[in-house]
Amino acid sequence: MELNGEERRATTYCVTGASGYIGSWLVKSLLERGYTVHATLRDLAKSQYLKSKWRGNERLRLFRADLQDEGSFDDAVKGCDGVFHVAASMEFDISPDHANLDSYVQNKVVDPAIKGVRNVLGSCLKSKSVKRVIFTSSISTLTAKDENERWRSIVDETCKTPIDHVLKTKASGWVYVLSKLVSEEEAFRYAKERGMDLVSAITTTVSGPFLTPSLPSSLQVLLSPISGACLFAILSAVNKRMGSIGLVHIEDICMAHLFLMEEPKAEGQYICCVDNIDMHELMLNHFSKEYLCKVHKVDDDLEERQSLMKPKISSKKLRDLGFEYKYGIDEIIYQTIDASINFRFPTLDHRLKQ
Ligand SMILES: NC(=O)c1ccc[n+]([C@@H]2O[C@H](COP(=O)([O-])OP(=O)(O)OC[C@H]3O[C@@H](n4cnc5c(N)ncnc54)[C@H](OP(=O)(O)O)[C@@H]3O)[C@@H](O)[C@H]2O)c1
Repeated sequence: MELNGEERRATTYCVTGASGYIGSWLVKSLLERGYTVHATLRDLAKSQYLKSKWRGNERLRLFRADLQDEGSFDDAVKGCDGVFHVAASMEFDISPDHANLDSYVQNKVVDPAIKGVRNVLGSCLKSKSVKRVIFTSSISTLTAKDENERWRSIVDETCKTPIDHVLKTKASGWVYVLSKLVSEEEAFRYAKERGMDLVSAITTTVSGPFLTPSLPSSLQVLLSPISGACLFAILSAVNKRMGSIGLVHIEDICMAHLFLMEEPKAEGQYICCVDNIDMHELMLNHFSKEYLCKVHKVDDDLEERQSLMKPKISSKKLRDLGFEYKYGIDEIIYQTIDASINFRFPTLDHRLKQ
């Protein structure tokens, strides 16, 4: 259900994490559509660069807020009709050398994740105006492997990664996975106990153009086979857990968030993924053949790959609700490389097709 121009002008949404990749684009999308936006940043100085890219500034208010500061979101959320809770800690790993790793993880990852989500939802509750919260979740909370470590043919919203498996395996990026799992679980628990309307957008790897002054981490991860960055271990871990890489264009993920905010029938969790691609197909067919980029060769799981029917990451629930994606995989990759070149991504040895 799309709002008309007048309804949009009368609607105020809050976006947390407005300095980030998704948050900054979501602010732009909402302003362009006529909404009033309350954007939160933990460092207001970061808005300087973005302000020139956010048209419709007269409908934008900025608030300083930190997930770890009690009551920090009260002012930003006051008077809002809905909140897009996008902000999250983006730490991927911690050193395994801590003397007491378990208590370190509890104090530095689990407790802050829970505190952050309670803090935002607490402000929403106090506001009495917020009707729905959209929580930005991650595909990292799901797995394509069943309890017997066999590949599923379809990954849907029910295929949750067990927390004890994350703690046991500590695969690359496990701290991030743990933090997203814990915060989403807490968000639904908190909302249910208080009768709040919360919907989660389970986001696959987001790519395409960006507004931020540095290359967003999801693009760094996606382009790591070319750049050789250590983030390649994360891409590889995702591919191992999912059998492929799920992708969604930045514009589509923002539109999916808005769609879920305004569709009265939306409830629970929704995977946002236009399609999924095998990492080696991405490297060899797209990066290497299409764009002549030099890529790393990774053959460690070649045998498994050959026998693998790539599990499908299903966005059926979202599509059935009426959401339509605008950008396919080819366009996402083209626009990602294009945006990175314009940004002078240093190690990109490329040729863009005319
Ligand atoms: N991009 C993807 O491919 C992808 C995929 C799945 C899920 N997601 C989810 O999408 C959301 C946004 O990700 P992104 O790619 O846009 O990452 P990003 O560019 O790193 O943005 C993260 C945002 O969260 C803010 N933040 C971090 N810790 C905070 C704190 N303690 N208090 C307040 N704000 C805090 C950051 O603020 P600072 O600028 O001050 O650090 C930043 O604005 C996250 O929830 C992430 O889990 C992203």
